[in-house]
Amino acid sequence: MELTRKRTELKKLRGYDFYQSLGSPKKVLAPMVQMSELPFRLYMRKQGVELCYSPMMISKHFHSSRRFRKRNLHFHQKDRPLFVQFAGNDPNVVLKSAQYVENKCDAIDFNMGCPQQRVAGKGHYGSFLLDTEEDRQLCVEIVKKLDQNLIVPVTCKIRLIPSSEDKLVGDIEKTITFAKQLEKAGCAILAVHGRTRFNKGRTMTKTNWGAIARVKESLTIPVIANGSVKTFQDYKDCLKESKADAVMVAMGCLDNPLLFLNKGNDGELNWEKERRVCTKEFLEFVFEQQKEKQLLVVKEKTIRNHIYHIVGKQFFRAPQLRERLSSIEEMVKAVTELDQVLTQKEKEKKNHEIENEKENEKEIKVEQIENNQKELEIEKEKL
Ligand SMILES: Cc1cc2nc3c(=O)[nH]c(=O)nc-3n(C[C@H](O)[C@H](O)[C@H](O)COP(=O)(O)O)c2cc1C
Repeated sequence: MELTRKRTELKKLRGYDFYQSLGSPKKVLAPMVQMSELPFRLYMRKQGVELCYSPMMISKHFHSSRRFRKRNLHFHQKDRPLFVQFAGNDPNVVLKSAQYVENKCDAIDFNMGCPQQRVAGKGHYGSFLLDTEEDRQLCVEIVKKLDQNLIVPVTCKIRLIPSSEDKLVGDIEKTITFAKQLEKAGCAILAVHGRTRFNKGRTMTKTNWGAIARVKESLTIPVIANGSVKTFQDYKDCLKESKADAVMVAMGCLDNPLLFLNKGNDGELNWEKERRVCTKEFLEFVFEQQKEKQLLVVKEKTIRNHIYHIVGKQFFRAPQLRERLSSIEEMVKAVTELDQVLTQKEKEKKNHEIENEKENEKEIKVEQIENNQKELEIEKEKL
């Protein structure tokens, strides 16, 4: 796919025509601030992902700062199909931001899902725009504006609208009404995170895939289900239960980048070792890309976060290795060493177990000999 497209080359597709033009992707990498960045997106495409979202870009900053744009969003010709996600509450600012990148991606996604009080709450965007009818109409206006003015389709990501009785639970009817309004405004594909904005952190419960199914049934555009997918089996269950066209995964892919390949599922043998192999592969991949100068910007903090997720706490408990995560090259070496250290530890553990077994056998034999001797002595005495 070409990295850039000209305005005149495109006939704008919507709904299933658009979805099919992308190859009807089923396995989707979720938008993730600081995580679904270019290196991880490219790596995940090698692990079965068929569509990626950029991290959320706050349109106010993206629009006003060239530096922000350069530092926070990177493109690559192999990184397609790609939806670039924006958050905001001013139709003109969201549109202007989107216009900077519309010829380098396949769709512009409008974020109505971010639940973070510190950012989205303060700035009044993301899922904080779902609470009142007035704000929901503002979202509809933004989507309409994007659809009417961009060369690429506009897509949306929402959460369930909280019910007035219990904020942890979604008001399905309200969510359906809103989803229909988004569709009418020009939304080409809708991603639904089946939880409300209050359903997070310590109070988080399992995603309501049934609610996503209700939304899907009431629309004619493709729907992407999101939430609570940690294993390949979850992916299959979610597809079935939500009746969605595709499944979007965030945390599950951070913890196990091989999820969509049906590898490294819970309880699978040797997964701990696989994790390290996977991390090394990811780092080596990033390192190679860097060497080839294809990816000029790789944030090491982001890479460290990925190591943390994939390898787990294990790595960060090894201070001598932790201190060495200063460059990608060093990280590759450190993970290799961790692999060696842990393999050595595993070997030692096994040797120890073998030694213990031998000791036990020896003791049993000695006991048997002693018993035999005792029996002989008793026999002798009898004689
Ligand atoms: C580290 C992280 C960053 C996230 N950043 C974004 C974001 O930029 N935009 C967005 O719409 N959702 C964001 N989310 C939410 C996810 O896209 C997803 O909706 C949520 O994690 C539920 O999916 P999961 O159960 O597969 O993790 C983020 C989630 C995580 C864990």
